[in-house]
Amino acid sequence: MTHHLAILPGDGIGPEIIAQAIRILDKLIADGLDADYQYAPLGGAAYDEYGAPYPEFTQNLCRAADAVLLGAVGGPKYDTLDRPLRPERGLLAIRKDLNLFANLRPAVLYPELANASSLKPEVVAGLDILIVRELTGDIYFGEPRGIHTNAQGEREGVNTMRYSESEIRRIGKIAFEAAQKRGKKLCSVDKANVLETTELWKQMMTELSADYPDVALTHMYVDNAAMQLVRAPKQFDVVVTGNIFGDILSDQASMLTGSIGMLPSASLNETGKGLYEPSHGSAPDIAGQNKANPLATILSLVMLLRYSLNNEAAAHRVETAISTVLAQGYRTGDIFEDGCRLVSCSGMGDAVLAAM
Ligand code: IPM
Ligand code: MG
Repeated sequence: MTHHLAILPGDGIGPEIIAQAIRILDKLIADGLDADYQYAPLGGAAYDEYGAPYPEFTQNLCRAADAVLLGAVGGPKYDTLDRPLRPERGLLAIRKDLNLFANLRPAVLYPELANASSLKPEVVAGLDILIVRELTGDIYFGEPRGIHTNAQGEREGVNTMRYSESEIRRIGKIAFEAAQKRGKKLCSVDKANVLETTELWKQMMTELSADYPDVALTHMYVDNAAMQLVRAPKQFDVVVTGNIFGDILSDQASMLTGSIGMLPSASLNETGKGLYEPSHGSAPDIAGQNKANPLATILSLVMLLRYSLNNEAAAHRVETAISTVLAQGYRTGDIFEDGCRLVSCSGMGDAVLAAM
């Protein structure tokens, strides 16, 4: 059965990093991978073409696809649009529309890049964390929300932090199962000392842990987790947390590895359908300069092959090629150090293809 993929290049550096991932995908297809793909716009690109950040054309293609590969969305040009028209809303809308509640954000340090981290090499060497972030609930989607004028005639901003039991349970299961396949340690991050929503979160994680006796569950307040991530990051194996805490902690975790340009992510629904995207943004400052690091996008393709296409052999092939090019010393600017070979975005694509 042919796998149908939707490709959403997006904005900023999105098109150039996606172009490199597509060269890898084309190579896999030429070598027998049974997949085809079609392009659609998302974010600012979609606003330019259709006047909406997640237009019907894109909705139809993504709903019908087995998996979606996304570059990045957003740019200064769109920051003054009405909120519902902004690129970020397109990203939130596709997550909600496809019910992609489970966001997996690995932070893995490649041994070759130990010096690229701003932390001491001994603090980060061997780092391998998986952040499981809930993606379709929390203060990101809770109602009421908005900016209105209150009884005192003053403007007031409102957002609502909200999680139901079923939402917590389903992300908890994903996290416990991920921990079972890894180091069997799960840290649930909350702010239960202040926020009732996360008090419920904490209780439910404890209840769920009865079903996973082989996984050691711990709890940590989010402020402490932020500190521990830079103090002693290797204490973590799998971290599970809500949408807003996960947004922040995953950016922080990414820098432990030297560059956010190395980190892929997967956002999955209950059936394994997924949206795969680099953890970084659209980097408008370097867009169009063929400078961006395409590896996070290529690693997102690896996750797509592994989780949505169940093709471990192809995933492994691309992953190995990436390790090879890093060992050969190829580096884009974000991970460059003296003695290495500086390459462009497409130059990194060339190197990965050659290593395959
Ligand atoms: C992310 C991003 C998004 C988020 C933005 C662009 C809406 O920061 O994927 O982490 O906050 O989820
Ligand atoms: Mg973020």
